[in-house]
Amino acid sequence: MSSNTPQQPAAQQQSTARVKSDKVVIELKDVRRNFIVGEETVHALRGINFKIFEGEFVTIMGTSGSGKSTLLNQLGCLDTPTSGEYYLDGTPVRKMSKSQRAKLRNRKIGFVFQSYNLLPKTTAVENVELPLMYNSKFTAAKRREAAIEALKAVGLGDRLEHKSNQMSGGQMQRVAIARALVNNPAVILADEATGNLDTHTSFEMLVLFQRLYEKGHTIIFVTHNPEIAQYSSRNIMLRDGKIREDTPNPNILSAADALAALPAPQDD
Ligand SMILES: Nc1ncnc2c1ncn2[C@@H]1O[C@H](COP(=O)(O)OP(=O)(O)O)[C@@H](O)[C@H]1O
Ligand SMILES: [Mg+2]
Repeated sequence: MSSNTPQQPAAQQQSTARVKSDKVVIELKDVRRNFIVGEETVHALRGINFKIFEGEFVTIMGTSGSGKSTLLNQLGCLDTPTSGEYYLDGTPVRKMSKSQRAKLRNRKIGFVFQSYNLLPKTTAVENVELPLMYNSKFTAAKRREAAIEALKAVGLGDRLEHKSNQMSGGQMQRVAIARALVNNPAVILADEATGNLDTHTSFEMLVLFQRLYEKGHTIIFVTHNPEIAQYSSRNIMLRDGKIREDTPNPNILSAADALAALPAPQDD
């Protein structure tokens, strides 16, 4: 893997906070989401406000029921708020039609799910090419080229023709990350992306996310695991559908160092 900041000594790379861009990628203004259940109204989001700037690595944390999934569905344009507004890369989302939202989602967001969501019995390259199928600018040859490049970026240059059932969990999640990257999205949205992985493989994924962060990608990582926040540049804490804390992380831990300090994984 190539180093991104060769002029800096390796030990300093992770802990140095990157200069913040002033480009707003995501803005939520008093976003509320109510669900009517029988006679009752559930207030899943109760007025969420934040801006996310280009190049941030944000963890969104909270216990079960705090509103993480509801918020993620808003951010991913899978659902719309009851009131308030959501701007994705400057575009207001709330009044869009379903098909407009789908288009915006395909162009602007790369998803990484806990369960990988790869097509079974399909090669790594084919899985990664998928988001480009809807993009008329890409010929078949260009699609393949872009998919190979994305797979190389996640360290899978030697597994291009492996099928999803021939790969480990960590490798499948790398394919999913490559698929999220291939469209060059405005934001990468990860939902418990390490939730199905063992500790060692989880840290390998965090190393990868930190590398993407260093390259300037904007990442939002939703998790119930507080440990992960130590590796992001900012942490938003939800409770009962409200933001309880929104704090920058002045001392981002190095996932690579944490990985190196772990005992070697068992073979059996
Ligand atoms: N589709 C829905 N219908 C009714 N209530 C819902 C729905 N989705 C979520 N909720 C409620 O909204 C609250 C937040 O849920 P959720 O966003 O799933 O939290 P989390 O992902 O943090 O566990 C919970 O009280 C949940 O029961
Ligand atoms: Mg949830």
